[in-house]
Amino acid sequence: MSDAFPVNGMDAVVFAVGNAKQAAHYYSTAFGMRLVAYKGPETGSRDEVAYVLTSGSARFELRGSLRPGTDLARHVAEHSDGVIDLAIEVPDVEAAYTHALAQGAKGLVEPYTLEDDHGKVVLAAIATYGETRHTLVDRSNYSGPYLPGYVAAEPMVAPPDVKNNRVFQAVDHCVGNVELGKMDEWVEFYKRVMGFTNMAEFIGDDIATEYSALMSKVVADGTRKVKFPLNEPAIAKKRSQIDEYLDFYGGPGVQHIALATNDILTAVDHMRAAGVQFLDTPDSYYDDPELRARIGEVRAPIEELKKRKILVDRDEDGYLLQIFTKPVQDRPTVFFELIERHGSLGFGKGNFKALFEAIEREQERRGNL
Ligand SMILES: [Fe+2]
Repeated sequence: MSDAFPVNGMDAVVFAVGNAKQAAHYYSTAFGMRLVAYKGPETGSRDEVAYVLTSGSARFELRGSLRPGTDLARHVAEHSDGVIDLAIEVPDVEAAYTHALAQGAKGLVEPYTLEDDHGKVVLAAIATYGETRHTLVDRSNYSGPYLPGYVAAEPMVAPPDVKNNRVFQAVDHCVGNVELGKMDEWVEFYKRVMGFTNMAEFIGDDIATEYSALMSKVVADGTRKVKFPLNEPAIAKKRSQIDEYLDFYGGPGVQHIALATNDILTAVDHMRAAGVQFLDTPDSYYDDPELRARIGEVRAPIEELKKRKILVDRDEDGYLLQIFTKPVQDRPTVFFELIERHGSLGFGKGNFKALFEAIEREQERRGNL
C-alpha cells in the first residue's frame, strides 16, 4: 500500500489570513522565518496576495484576499485565520491523484502543470477534513523561489540572532481536529488513500483530565516524514478543548503545527522575547519526583526547562522536549508546538495531562470550559 502513494515530505503549510502582510511580519520576527517569495498586484495577481516564508525545510504560505467576494475572503470571514492546505510533495502527482480518487478521495483540482523560466511544477489537490485540502506537488523540475506566478522576495527583517540564523528547521507534524465520532473515519482515509499507518494511539485515560477529554490517533507515511495526528472530542464533565476549537473555527480543521528545533531553549527565548505567548506549566510539574525519575538525564538542566516551562517526555526510543504556544490569532483555534527530539518518535503522551490542565485554565479564562 505504501508504494501506491509515495511521498517526499511536506511541501508547504498554507494559511488563509486576514492581513497577509502583517502575518508575514509576525512569522518573520517572532518565528525567525525568512520571506522568500511573493505575489500580489505588482506581479499581476489581482485577487490575492501571498507571502512565502521558510525556515530550514519548513515552508509557510500566507494568503490574503485583496477584495471581498473571493473564496479566500469567505474562508477568512467564516474561520478567521487558519490552515487551508497541507501541501505534500510527491514524486508523481498524476499517479498519486489517480490512486487517491480510486480509493475514494474527493478530487478538488485535477493534475495540471505550471511553467515559467525556472522550469515546471505539477500540481493537483484532494479534499481532507473540513475545508482543508492536500495539494500534491511535484517540484523536481523547478528551480524558482516557490511556484510560477511568484517572484523572489527579500527578507522582511534581519535574520534571528541565533545559531544557523533559524529558530526551527522543519515541520514535525500537523494535527487535525474532527467532530465526535469522525476520528476513525479520517484515520481510515489516510490509510486507504495514502497508505499511511498508525503510529501511536491515545484513548480515554491517556489524555483525559477530570473535566475534559479527547481521543487522538496518529497516521504517518512509511518514512515518518509526514505525520498527521487526528483528534476528536471525548465525553467528560466539561467541554473538551476540541469542542471549543470546532465551535470557534466553524468545523474541523488544523489544530496545531509542530515545528522541529535543534535548540528549544534558544527557540523559546527568541519567540518569547518577540511576544509569543506559551502555555504555562506549574512548577509542581518539575518538582514531581515521579517525573524526575521517569525522564532521567536530558541535555539541559531541569531548572532551565522549568524557567521556560518546557515539557519533557521519555519512551523506549529516547526523549523529547516540547512546548505549546497559546492560539496565534483572535479565535482560540490554531496554535504551534516546538519539539526537540532525542530519539523519541512520540508526541508527548506523558505530558498530555499537564498540557490539558494548562489548556483548561485558558479555556476557563475565555469562558469556554
Ligand atoms: Fe503535537
